[in-house]
Amino acid sequence: MCTYKLNVRFQVFTAHRHIRQKDESNVHRFSQPFSIEKKQLNTGKSRRQPCPAVLDHFDQQYSEELGDLWASARAVLLDPPSWQYGVMLNRFSSVTDITQILQSQGFSSLLPQTDRPPKFPPSSLQCYVHPHPLRFPSQAHRPGQLKQYYLLNAASLLPVLALQVRDGDKVLDLCSAPGGKAVAIMQSATPALLCCNEPDPHRRDWLAKTLESFLPSSLCSRVMVSAQDGRFVGQSEAGFYDKVLVDAPCSNDRSWLHSSDKLRGQQRLEDRARLPELQTQLLRSAISAVRPGGVVVYSTCTLSSLENCAVVEAVLKDFPDAEPSLHPLIGSASTFHHKLGILVVPQPGRTWGPMFLSRIRKKR
Ligand SMILES: C[S@@+](CC[C@H](N)C(=O)[O-])C[C@H]1O[C@@H](n2cnc3c(N)ncnc32)[C@H](O)[C@@H]1O
Repeated sequence: MCTYKLNVRFQVFTAHRHIRQKDESNVHRFSQPFSIEKKQLNTGKSRRQPCPAVLDHFDQQYSEELGDLWASARAVLLDPPSWQYGVMLNRFSSVTDITQILQSQGFSSLLPQTDRPPKFPPSSLQCYVHPHPLRFPSQAHRPGQLKQYYLLNAASLLPVLALQVRDGDKVLDLCSAPGGKAVAIMQSATPALLCCNEPDPHRRDWLAKTLESFLPSSLCSRVMVSAQDGRFVGQSEAGFYDKVLVDAPCSNDRSWLHSSDKLRGQQRLEDRARLPELQTQLLRSAISAVRPGGVVVYSTCTLSSLENCAVVEAVLKDFPDAEPSLHPLIGSASTFHHKLGILVVPQPGRTWGPMFLSRIRKKR
């Protein structure tokens, strides 16, 4: 395995101190030109065992919350080889060859392409999906070379689409690592500022590496990495941002269900009980950080209503100047529509999600 130091081209901000990291001395460079071959495609057939304690917990909670939908969602969650992945193209690299390979393999565009106003969804954001769970190989990090695509749960694009970032916006990605949604934001528009915040140092390194792999150096002055506890950004940067994304730490149903051992599963169930408090604080902070007329999107990748609608409901009680507002196109992607947000429940044939999102506008 090769090791290298990060070629961090993106400024790292801590609360009020701006620290620029730059060290190109120890960067590993690959001499091989990058290529992708059809034979690299795989169908991701490895079997992962579910954790019984987590499955029991999900059965109890979700059969009550989702009714009949839970049986089909459960079947999908228990069958990782059936999960579909999206391939988000990187508009900053040449993608003609990848597009051709994707199309020849039966992938098609997830988003309707339109250049007519109001340009929604943005035509620069391109994501391909396959009707079957065919998995594209991930690309290795190669310093000095931009990656051509990012693999993701296609439902992860919904919070970014809901944010509706425009050129020139000041945007905060409050919980940013490993950076998939930050990359998607930069595919959809050219904000004046994108601040990617991540307090965990290891995940922040991962985030910096993602940004470095997908964004050209010409965007360095617009994209920053900060290391704050997101719960306090609303105080330190009140009313500064046009758009804030809170892709909150949550009980990630897909991975928690496949916790490696019983102890880890139990630990996660204990963590699960504490998450709504943290999520509520993060969403409060985000609403404070946005200007009047600005937008906050809150998202999670769990089906749990305690981490979804209950959080939004509790926070909106404290902000009479904030209200839910969702674009109808985003609403149409959901399986469950609530007045406070939408929930994408994985279903056979459409094995995306779980993904919850709520779009909140602060009144002028
Ligand atoms: C669901 S992940 C974010 C995924 C990311 N948005 C993406 O698309 O790649 C949640 C992140 O929130 C971070 N986090 C945890 N506590 C936080 C806090 N107090 N403030 C900000 N971020 C926090 C976690 O370390 C984790 O990286």
